[in-house]
Amino acid sequence: MALGVCESKSQDGPDFPIGWYSVGRGRELASGEVQRVTAFDRELALFRTRSGQAVVTDAFCPHLGAHLGVEGRVVGETIRCPFHGWKFDASGDCVEIPYCDEIPERAKVRSWPVSETNGDIMVWYHPLEEAPAWEIPALEELSSDDWSEPQYWEFTIPNHVQNIAENTCDPEHFQYVHRMQDTPPSKVEIAEDGRVLHMVADAKDAAHPNTLHATLHNPGLAVVRTVYGPGAEMLVYSTAQPTSLEETHMRWTLTVRKEIVDLVGDDVMRGIKEGIGDDMPIWRHKIYRQKPVFCKGDTSLVGFRKWVRQFYIDDNAAA
Ligand code: FES
Ligand SMILES: [Fe+2]
Repeated sequence: MALGVCESKSQDGPDFPIGWYSVGRGRELASGEVQRVTAFDRELALFRTRSGQAVVTDAFCPHLGAHLGVEGRVVGETIRCPFHGWKFDASGDCVEIPYCDEIPERAKVRSWPVSETNGDIMVWYHPLEEAPAWEIPALEELSSDDWSEPQYWEFTIPNHVQNIAENTCDPEHFQYVHRMQDTPPSKVEIAEDGRVLHMVADAKDAAHPNTLHATLHNPGLAVVRTVYGPGAEMLVYSTAQPTSLEETHMRWTLTVRKEIVDLVGDDVMRGIKEGIGDDMPIWRHKIYRQKPVFCKGDTSLVGFRKWVRQFYIDDNAAA
């Protein structure tokens, strides 16, 4: 009997999906500060102009290729290359060469669309560099008196951003990976616009019984609301920085309703953080199945795979 082709661990997976991704925390970038960022398998430069605008550009200077994010300097509304002092404005155009009056037409770096929303510095990724197709919804809970001071948490997952998002729509694994007694009844629904995915799970067997409602705006951009009872709620805002196709850096902002902050606030926030540790061994070693063998019970996963296709320009790239 033939055993089939031996599977390589590094077979082709999906590309980076279209959408909004984080490259830093707004509060960790002061005016005049320059940072080096790795995202989408690229080097980028992140800086905040003197007037306060966060700017993300490709890292390498069009002149001789110096990294603008390493020793580059903010001068007013521009970033100055550390090598020969060419200055680039927020749109990426070279606006000054200190030793030459004439600026070559091609003296530009790519400037990425940036949105500073909900405390994170977000960039828009599109493989053809098309403009953002939607805006990130602002969460009023993060600045409301009815909710606790947000907690911030970051971690790196050795896997592709799509696989991390897929985990949200996989209620079957709660039982085996997260030691829930049962698989919570759950459903995946796509909003009318076709873009926003909702996953609702009724986790009554969890350590703190709850109803969980995850809203996915694009792979890696999620709002997860967990309701434990009247006035007892937790919100996790999750953004992702796909550093490469094999690694994703996650940024979480967590808050609970003031009513439960002293009672169980830290416990539920710690609980959801620890859940990530359960997933790690799976993520570290799994391969990507472009065409998984699904069974009839996998309706949420099938729904996710259909939904996620829209974030690629080539259908086949995703699923
Ligand atoms: S390499 Fe940037 S100015 Fe020369
Ligand atoms: Fe999980």
